[in-house]
Amino acid sequence: MRKVSIKGTGSCVPERVVPNSFFERIVDTSDEWITTRTGIKERRMVFPGQALTDLAVPAAQRAMEMAGVSSLEIDLIVVGTSTPDMVTPSAACILQDRLGARNAFAFDIGAACPGFLYSLAVAQKFIQDGSHEYALVVGGEIISNRIDYTDRSTCVLFGDGAGAVILGARNGDGEGEVLSTHLHSDGSLWNLLNVPGGGSRNPPSHEMVDRGLHYIKMQGNEVFKYAVRAMVESALEALEANKVTSEDIDWFIPHQANLRIMETVAKRLDIPLHKVISTVHKYGNTSAASIPTALDEAIRSGKIRRGDLILVGSFGAGFTWGASLFRY
Ligand code: UT7
Repeated sequence: MRKVSIKGTGSCVPERVVPNSFFERIVDTSDEWITTRTGIKERRMVFPGQALTDLAVPAAQRAMEMAGVSSLEIDLIVVGTSTPDMVTPSAACILQDRLGARNAFAFDIGAACPGFLYSLAVAQKFIQDGSHEYALVVGGEIISNRIDYTDRSTCVLFGDGAGAVILGARNGDGEGEVLSTHLHSDGSLWNLLNVPGGGSRNPPSHEMVDRGLHYIKMQGNEVFKYAVRAMVESALEALEANKVTSEDIDWFIPHQANLRIMETVAKRLDIPLHKVISTVHKYGNTSAASIPTALDEAIRSGKIRRGDLILVGSFGAGFTWGASLFRY
C-alpha cells in the first residue's frame, strides 16, 4: 500500500466577527461567563445568503495552491459537514463544479464535528490503494443559522468556517505521512446532541420551525463528560498503534469546542499546554471545520513545520469521535 501525505492546507472563515458582547444584548449571559466556561471571545458568522461552499471554495483553492495541484488533477473530493449548501446534491458536488474539478468523484460525510477526521480516513484509503492520486478533503460548517438565539446554553458556542487539505501519495523523504486514524461512534447517545428537524423524521414545515426543531439541541454538561473520556481514549489508541508516547508529540490539535475540554484532555494525555493549538478564542466551535482551520493556521504561521508529529482528536454528535496521528 502507498503511504499518504498532506500536500497542502487551506482555510477560510467569514469576515463578520461576532464578539461575546453581541450575546450580552440578546440573552442573559456575560462575556465573563462565556470566557471562563468556554475560552471563546468571538466567533465568525456568515452574512445572510452565504453558504458552505462560499467558504469551502477559497479554502480548497488555498490548499491546492500550497500543494501545487490543479483542480483537474484532483480525482476525489470528500466534504465532512452537517450543513451542506442544500439537502441534495452534496456540498462536495457543488464544490467540484465551482472548482472545475471535472475528473473527481465527490461526496459528503455526515459525522458532525469529527466529519473532517472521518473524511480524511476515507480519502486516505483511495490514495493508499493506488486507485486515486489527489484527494481534496474539506471540513466545513455554517452553523450560525442552526442556532437558537434565545437559548443561552448553545447560542454562544458556535461559529462558521471551512478548512481543506490535499492528500496524495508520499514521494520522497521531505514529506510527512498520515500514520493512522481511529474512528468510533455510539449511536445510543444521539439524543444528547442533535438537530431534530429538517430530515425525514421531522420534515421541513411551519410546525417544525414553530417548534424550533431546526436548531441545535445539546445537553452540554453530559456531552462534556463523554467528550473528555472519548478524546483521551482515542488519542491513546493512536499513540499506541504507532508505538509513540505523548512526549513524542510536537503539536496536539483537539476539536475546538471548549478550552476547558481541550486543556483537560491534554492534561490527561500528559501533553503540555504550549503544544496545544487553540483557535477557540477567536472562532468558537466550528464543528467539522475546527481541526482543518487550526491546522492550516498553524502551518501558515510557521508553528507547525515539516517533520513535526501531530496528534488530532475530535468528538461530536452521534456520538462520533476519533483521533489521527500524522507527520507533517
Ligand atoms: O462540538 C460538539 C461537542 N460539544 C461540546 O463538546 C460541548 C460540551 N459542553 C460544554 O462545552 C459545556 O457543557 C457548556 C459550555 C455547553 C456549558 O458549560 P457548563 O459548565 O457545563 O455549564 P452547565 O450547562 O452545567 O450550566 C451551568 C449554569 C446553568 O445555570 P444554573 O442551572 O446552575 O443556574 C446554566 O443555565 O450556567 C448556566 N448557563 C449560562 N449562564 C450564562 C448556561 N449557558 C450560559 C450562558 N451564560 N451562555
